[in-house]
Amino acid sequence: MAASSSAHVLLPPAGVALLALLLVMASSPEAAQAAAAGLSVGFYGESCPQAEAIVRQTVSKAFKKEPGTPADLIRLFFHDCFVREDEVLPNVPHPDFNTQQLTQNFTSKGFTVEEMVTLSGAHSIGTSHCSSFTDRLYKYYGTYGTDPSIPATYAAYLKSKCPPETAAQQDPTMVQLDDVTPFRLDNQYYKNVLSGHVAFGSDVALLDTPETAALVRLYAKDPAVWPARFAAALVKVSKLYVLTGGEGEIRLNCSRVNS
Ligand code: HEM
Ligand SMILES: *[C@@H]1O[C@H](CO)[C@@H](O)[C@H](O)[C@H]1NC(C)=O
Ligand SMILES: *[C@@H]1O[C@H](CO)[C@@H](O)[C@H](O)[C@H]1NC(C)=O
Repeated sequence: MAASSSAHVLLPPAGVALLALLLVMASSPEAAQAAAAGLSVGFYGESCPQAEAIVRQTVSKAFKKEPGTPADLIRLFFHDCFVREDEVLPNVPHPDFNTQQLTQNFTSKGFTVEEMVTLSGAHSIGTSHCSSFTDRLYKYYGTYGTDPSIPATYAAYLKSKCPPETAAQQDPTMVQLDDVTPFRLDNQYYKNVLSGHVAFGSDVALLDTPETAALVRLYAKDPAVWPARFAAALVKVSKLYVLTGGEGEIRLNCSRVNS
């Protein structure tokens, strides 16, 4: 895959890496298991040998036009895989969740606490609607105050971007989740968690237990540790609720089910 050797992977390669990953898990034991279950790595090897190159090219092109593309893809990927269609709303982790609630959601799907912390690093890119965190700015625990864990300058910044009226669900205002390196999929997210420069209560909550806080500090300190763990955890996400054989279908047109 195109990931650079630097830990600070600039985004077109990282975005492609996500998709490429799913096509290139050939040598892992997990891949062997998946193959045994009716899935095979290299599925398109004969029917469409250019598949990977096409995906890479398409994502790179999209990134140049719209730098938010990789974040959109990662979030779509997480939601598509993590939440089964029949359980939609109640099981999407909520931005106000505490560590215990988040842990319950991840462990109920077979993920470890470490993987939960690792996957949260996806918030190193992408954007959020103001409404996902305005409670922290204006109504913290219903007190109409500001969450005291937000540093004053960052709170002022968020309030300037997201005045009270943006709390409305339909409000289109967006802010960058990682204000320092918004288009780099890197370990900056963990530095932001440590300094409180994160939008969601669920991000701050990673400091609530000694185990999760230690991982946050490790990932923040050593830029080389997180990327490989993130890649492995994403591959694991891709294996949730996989449909094989006649259970699903390969769409002829991505936008709709085959007729
Ligand atoms: C730990 C629990 C998590 C919570 C509570 C959470 C919550 C959220 C929320 C509220 C948003 C903003 C939505 C909006 O208002 O537009 C968001 C954005 C995002 N999330 Fe998460 N998330 C979690 C875990 C993850 C994981 C595991 C991934 C991927 C591996 C992920 C990837 C993303 C990305 C990439 C965006 C930005 C989307 C974009 O810019 O299009 N999140 N998340
Ligand atoms: C996720 O956590 C919430 C709050 O603890 C809980 O209501 C929901 O059932 C959990 N979902 C799963 C799949 O564990
Ligand atoms: C795919 O389906 C969508 C929605 O029905 C339609 O608008 C689009 O034209 C279709 N694309 C192709 C290539 O057939």
